[in-house]
Amino acid sequence: RTVYLKDYTPPAYLVDEVRLTFRLAPEATRVLSEIRFRPNPDAASRDFFLHGEQLKLISAHVDGKAVQPVLVEGGLRLEAPDAPFTFEAEVEIDPEHNTALEGLYRSGGMYCTQCEAEGFRKITFYPDRPDVMAPFHVRIESDEPVLLSNGNPGASGPGFAEWNDPWPKPAYLFALVAGDLVAHSDSFTTMSGREVALNLWVREADIDKCAFGMEALKKSMTWDERTYGREYDLDVFNIVAVDDFNMGAMENKGLNIFNSSAVLASPATATDADFERIEAIIAHEYFHNWTGNRVTCRDWFQLCLKEGLTVFRDQQFTGDMRSHAVKRIDDAMLLRAAQFREDNGPLAHPVRPESFVEINNFYTVTVYEKGAEIVGMLKRLVGDKGYRKALDLYFERHDGQAVTIEDWLKVFEEATGRDLGQFARWYHQAGTPRVHVAEDWTDGRYTLTLRQETPATPGQSDKQPVVIPVAVGLLNPNGDEVLPTKVLELTETEQSFAFDGLSARPVPSILRGFSAPVILKQEQTDETRAFLLAHDTDPFNKWEAGRDLARTGLLAMIQSGDGPHAGYIDALGRGIADESLDPAFRAQLLALPGEDELAQAIFETGQAPDPSAIHEAREGLRHAIADRLGDLLSRLYDTHQVTGAYSPKAGDAGRRSLTNAALSLLSLTEGGNRARNQFRAADNMTQQIAALGALLKIGEGAAELKAFEDQWSHERLVMNKWFGLQVGAAQPDDAAETAERLTRHPAFDWKNPNRFRAVFGALSGNAAGFHHPSGAGYRLLADWLLKLDPLNPQTTARMTQAFSTWKRYDEDRRGLIRAELERIAGTDGLSRDTSEMVGRMLAD
Ligand code: ARG
Ligand code: ZN
Repeated sequence: RTVYLKDYTPPAYLVDEVRLTFRLAPEATRVLSEIRFRPNPDAASRDFFLHGEQLKLISAHVDGKAVQPVLVEGGLRLEAPDAPFTFEAEVEIDPEHNTALEGLYRSGGMYCTQCEAEGFRKITFYPDRPDVMAPFHVRIESDEPVLLSNGNPGASGPGFAEWNDPWPKPAYLFALVAGDLVAHSDSFTTMSGREVALNLWVREADIDKCAFGMEALKKSMTWDERTYGREYDLDVFNIVAVDDFNMGAMENKGLNIFNSSAVLASPATATDADFERIEAIIAHEYFHNWTGNRVTCRDWFQLCLKEGLTVFRDQQFTGDMRSHAVKRIDDAMLLRAAQFREDNGPLAHPVRPESFVEINNFYTVTVYEKGAEIVGMLKRLVGDKGYRKALDLYFERHDGQAVTIEDWLKVFEEATGRDLGQFARWYHQAGTPRVHVAEDWTDGRYTLTLRQETPATPGQSDKQPVVIPVAVGLLNPNGDEVLPTKVLELTETEQSFAFDGLSARPVPSILRGFSAPVILKQEQTDETRAFLLAHDTDPFNKWEAGRDLARTGLLAMIQSGDGPHAGYIDALGRGIADESLDPAFRAQLLALPGEDELAQAIFETGQAPDPSAIHEAREGLRHAIADRLGDLLSRLYDTHQVTGAYSPKAGDAGRRSLTNAALSLLSLTEGGNRARNQFRAADNMTQQIAALGALLKIGEGAAELKAFEDQWSHERLVMNKWFGLQVGAAQPDDAAETAERLTRHPAFDWKNPNRFRAVFGALSGNAAGFHHPSGAGYRLLADWLLKLDPLNPQTTARMTQAFSTWKRYDEDRRGLIRAELERIAGTDGLSRDTSEMVGRMLAD
């Protein structure tokens, strides 16, 4: 059944207070609830409905009198008083057999919860919708040594603990954890002097992997005070690491629950990229305390209200902690690789969708990353001061409320006086706008003409022009900047912007800082691109110029059989040799466009991409770079080595990303000796795994792979890398077979989402391997999705996205993928999650 935004109605009853008692037992946990309801004066209906799924109702009472609710699909109904009353229920649930990892479940012997979006209804009967907010009191009865829930600790003793959360919250923010855990503890004093106890709870074996996460938490708390004036509001902040988790992490009030991969890190077991990701996710979940928890969403269509804003905040944070330029490039790469891919295929949807079947299918890159881009554009349009004023008003006006995108835009309108009527289209309209550029130079006047167009997406054939902030700078032919960055506002379908007073025809640098999530269509010569790569003052566009050179060169290799362009390689060489540039940025210059991005680019020229040809061309260019720049790469490798004790900080990490990019290229021409030496000498995971990856890529490294397995067999997070790396580095002909072989490895615990994703995420990420003409990759993935679906619909549905680009390809591949999608769709008892996804991919 489809749920529509337009059908929203306010809840019939509101909740003043919730009391819950948990009597924990693995297969028969009892949950006793006592909920004080009151009729909602703003609701037309008095229909008393409580959500509930997979619950065994033991008893129910209204104001102390036993009642017999009518159990209906998805919940229960009662004749309820038209006055305040107390509803009580006792239910029984089975955490041990909860393999969907939603509601209360067990992971590695501990109890934990995941309620967002609609998991609380698997814990007890409740109005499980975000616009019903209430303070919670929780009592946990269990012999587990550590018993946690939201809010501040209350009474505790042998076999029980109580928790009180004074801040009204929706049920999706409820959390409970019980288990044999130890804490890495610290404390934080807030700007108004509140002492907050901080704890990161883990299994004893992981206590050495907590220090970095704790530092990240403290930095996040300070940053949110300084940047947004937001202070923490409880006496404790608890984080728990669990191994079995469908997503990255969850912002439950005062009790964040993390996928262990998103919080645990030590130099020996985590890479620089892991450290950076962990810092960002800790920040993200912490920032939700204000953007999500104190101000929450009225309904799930408003998900981007909290996610887009919170992603934008974590991006700002990472930029402040590390490098804004490098972070912006990383974000743009992710947006293009994942969000543009989504926007250009059958799963395209607006940042604020209008309907869904299963809300878990809408925790997407579009809602999250494009949602963050919209916040960034707003900030650019109203300026830093306007943005801060609007955010202050947002928190002041909506604290304690469940609100909508309209409420959000309204605070910007009121704080800045700007009409955002047209801007709001960014939330409603799916698809990536294309911006076409035309230039004119007449009588000393330079004119830029911009034209926008958004292709049709499923269910949305007509598109309207959106407001696009286009940051532009102009350079003189000698390389000097004559016009520093200026934001042009493109609001019409086509608009011209004139620049006077220039002594020579300038070279434009357009969409600086990637100022809008659009595809720029610009006729440029390779000379102009090389010029911008050398001279642009905007780091994003400097990088972009190199990327454009690489992309057009690769397309010429693939589509016209050209050889690698020496001009590009020389320009790249000058870029990476420039010691005035940040090593992390130079590593980004060395990163070629991915095979999937190239496939989409070819599709847009009207041809069916051939994944094998793309792979060969890209590898060919890598070889050519290594050949032509070998001496330089070797010198960079030697001179940028980090010496001394490992630190995950940005400076060292940037040097390692440069030397490891060089290593990977050099291994192509030199063979494996350099990588083998690095593997042997490595005292941290970044160096170790980069060396192993470089070896596997050239078909060597069997001994190192074995040594790595022996060394790390007891570390689950490291073994995920071991699984993923082999599939990711496999040659196209071997990828499916490698994945299949690994599924027979004794450590392939397919019920663990991280392990499942390690193998199958890597398979779908190995484009030429996954799209091998034999269809073996498609078949293997479909087999395993069908196996996982009955146990864990959420992770299964998410992984079906590997197939979402199927319409790009040739008839044979399309036929093979369609057959797999139809096989999945036709399976009896398929979950709602997976059936929605494959249905959308098969629909026209
Ligand atoms: N709110 C969490 C976050 O972004 C993600 C939870 C996703 N849960 C889900 N069932 N899809 O931090
Ligand atoms: Zn979030």
